[in-house]
Amino acid sequence: MAFFAVLLAALAVQQVYGASTPRRRATCAGGQQVTNAECCAWFPVLEDIVPNLFGGECGDDAHGALRLTFHDAIGFSRTGGGGGGADGSIIVFNDTELTYLANAGLDDTIDAEAPFIAKHNVTPGDFIQFAGAVSLTLCPGAPRTGFFMGRAPPEAPAPGPDGLVPEPFDNVTNILNRMFDAGAFSPEEVVALLASHSVAGADTIDPTIPGTPFDSSPSIMDTQIFIEVQLKGTLFPGPDPGNGEAMSAVAGEMRLESDGLIARDERTSCFWQEMAGNQSRMQEQFAAAFLKLGMIGHSESSLIDCSDVIPDATPLPDNAGPHLPPTLDQADIQQACATAAFPTFPVLPGPAETVPAIPQS
Ligand code: HEM
Ligand SMILES: *[C@@H]1O[C@H](CO)[C@@H](O)[C@H](O)[C@H]1NC(C)=O
Ligand SMILES: *[C@@H]1O[C@H](CO)[C@@H](O)[C@H](O)[C@H]1NC(C)=O
Ligand SMILES: *[C@@H]1O[C@H](CO)[C@@H](O)[C@H](O)[C@H]1NC(C)=O
Repeated sequence: MAFFAVLLAALAVQQVYGASTPRRRATCAGGQQVTNAECCAWFPVLEDIVPNLFGGECGDDAHGALRLTFHDAIGFSRTGGGGGGADGSIIVFNDTELTYLANAGLDDTIDAEAPFIAKHNVTPGDFIQFAGAVSLTLCPGAPRTGFFMGRAPPEAPAPGPDGLVPEPFDNVTNILNRMFDAGAFSPEEVVALLASHSVAGADTIDPTIPGTPFDSSPSIMDTQIFIEVQLKGTLFPGPDPGNGEAMSAVAGEMRLESDGLIARDERTSCFWQEMAGNQSRMQEQFAAAFLKLGMIGHSESSLIDCSDVIPDATPLPDNAGPHLPPTLDQADIQQACATAAFPTFPVLPGPAETVPAIPQS
């Protein structure tokens, strides 16, 4: 009886699996199997950008590529006011869009990516989202996200100045409204997208300290951003705090005012807290929201699913558990969510740390 139950269960699993697995229909020149033959074009791009754009690591260029996916895509308004969304306009119309304050610092990323776009003859809108998805696979702990191709070249720059891309000195209402107008993002999805700030830092907020990270581990995508931003702020990492900067809890680390406010706002604080220490939740919710970001101005039915080109994710190292920075403790957490207590984490041993700057490329 038990044997038959197991056998039936196995058959059922196999059937479900068989039905939901897309049929592989094309073999690319390099032998890779893909669902759609058009996706084969992305393997040479992948093999080029991993070593030659990213140096095989989750460093400055990978971080910039991830930021660029956001700044290109968010230039869109569902209620009118223009923009083509994830269309590559930030590269093609760089002479307009890079004059917007919110895009400061992206000139380096655009200069780095442009030669690869020309060499591989792909559209800039597709390339930006592809490079972002690939950059994540170099960041241990990040999820493997999907990738769709088929974005036409942009027709016009996203309108400015400084209207469509959220700024770190914007209030939570403005940011949530903007994100809803651009991509119908819920407050929960906005929090999920901010997992990106786990592999990030600032070059332009305080230009005297370029590459100042937002959490203590900017080359892995863990949930420390959600823990460290919830700590009581006590210091600025540089001598001269910039516009949109709030006090952080760890030397060498910068906190954006917007991240600090979103962690403490009643519309978002419980979602923020639920990310702290929950790596799988962070991965799932970020991957879904990131895919939605790349769809702004498009729909899944107008694009081709080339997710099978994206390499496997890199797992977090074993020693990367969620923690409180050395010398701080649970009492330094500023509880904001009204319905549940912030989870408790072990304190790293040792003296107070100073987080090193992210090496600039
Ligand atoms: C929603 C509100 C957001 C605000 C206000 C914001 C603001 C900022 C600011 C001010 C910086 C520092 C720029 C600099 O001085 O170099 C930054 C960096 C970054 N942001 Fe955001 N951001 C937001 C959302 C996002 C989203 C949705 C993503 C990606 C999906 C993202 C990815 C990044 C990355 C990867 C960096 C680091 C870039 C680097 O280290 O070179 N951000 N963000
Ligand atoms: C930046 O914009 C200028 C003027 O539109 C254009 O000639 C140039 O090719 C663009 N740069 C890149 C990297 O696309
Ligand atoms: C948010 O900022 C806008 C202006 O940028 C302002 O009109 C609004 O009153 C602010 N809202 C809150 C809740 O502070
Ligand atoms: C992590 O989040 C998932 C939802 O994504 C939830 O089901 C699970 O209970 C959470 N784990 C912990 C330890 O809170």
